[in-house]
Amino acid sequence: MPDEILIETIDQIGVARLNRPDKLNALNLATMTKLVDALERYDADPEIRCMLLAGDERAFAAGADINEMADATVVDMYLRNQFARWERIKRIQKPIVAAISGYCLGGGCELMMHCDIVIASENARFGQPEINIGVMPGAGGTQRLTRSAGKARAMDMVLTGHMISAHEALGMGLVSRVVPAEHWYREALNVSRELCTKSPLALRLAKESVLKAHETALSEGLEYERKLFYLLFATADQKEGMRAFLEKRPPVYLGK
Ligand code: COA
Repeated sequence: MPDEILIETIDQIGVARLNRPDKLNALNLATMTKLVDALERYDADPEIRCMLLAGDERAFAAGADINEMADATVVDMYLRNQFARWERIKRIQKPIVAAISGYCLGGGCELMMHCDIVIASENARFGQPEINIGVMPGAGGTQRLTRSAGKARAMDMVLTGHMISAHEALGMGLVSRVVPAEHWYREALNVSRELCTKSPLALRLAKESVLKAHETALSEGLEYERKLFYLLFATADQKEGMRAFLEKRPPVYLGK
């Protein structure tokens, strides 16, 4: 069986790398299944505090695998139920850092938008080119892109299929940081290491709360945030974090 996903643990970081370089990491069903299984395993592993998802230098991912869809009927697509895998990514509780270099298109761009902190190489190119092959985004592209970038820019990308640069993506709030090409992976690893120093429980609840902003009205989101904030006062990590600050020492978080 080919290794569509390379799995590696670095300290407390669960790393998953897309590994179909000859197909620009196009996301076929086997890749998505292995990726989601890996992320869920990391999510359940108490030794892992965050995840790092990357492609290679030439591509994060150039979209869903067109070979698998070209001759599919609507019934094939319906029964395949490929979006069930994406729903499982949505339920991952630990933060996912994405390291993006090269092409980040279609399903690749949608996968990137499922991640929490996105580090992009200055050479990265983003787009939703589905319109060029007679379809449209199906894994959240029209919704997440519009919420991040606004209607005018999302329409431009989705209706023309044009690619944008990393700096344009940064300006649209699609990525968190743009770094020189040689640092795309190292910077993402550094951010992941930084996350490992934080309270794991606070990280999860903070992620949940930020994501809630996509789904609710502001007043409902604020109420939700407040409840999660109160909940953190039930954790030993909150006591440790605040005590360590007052005692002028680094905190030691146990995830309890
Ligand atoms: N699905 C399946 N295969 C893909 C793919 C995809 N989404 N994207 C790239 N590939 C394959 C190509 O078919 C080619 O395979 P081959 O060498 O066996 O012919 C290989 O990856 C390299 O791609 P190629 O097109 O030769 O590279 P390029 O540098 O000339 O162009 C892109 C790069 C990204 C512009 C071009 O590959 C492209 O437009 N891909 C499709 C993007 C897309 O429409 N994504 C949304 C899908 S719903």
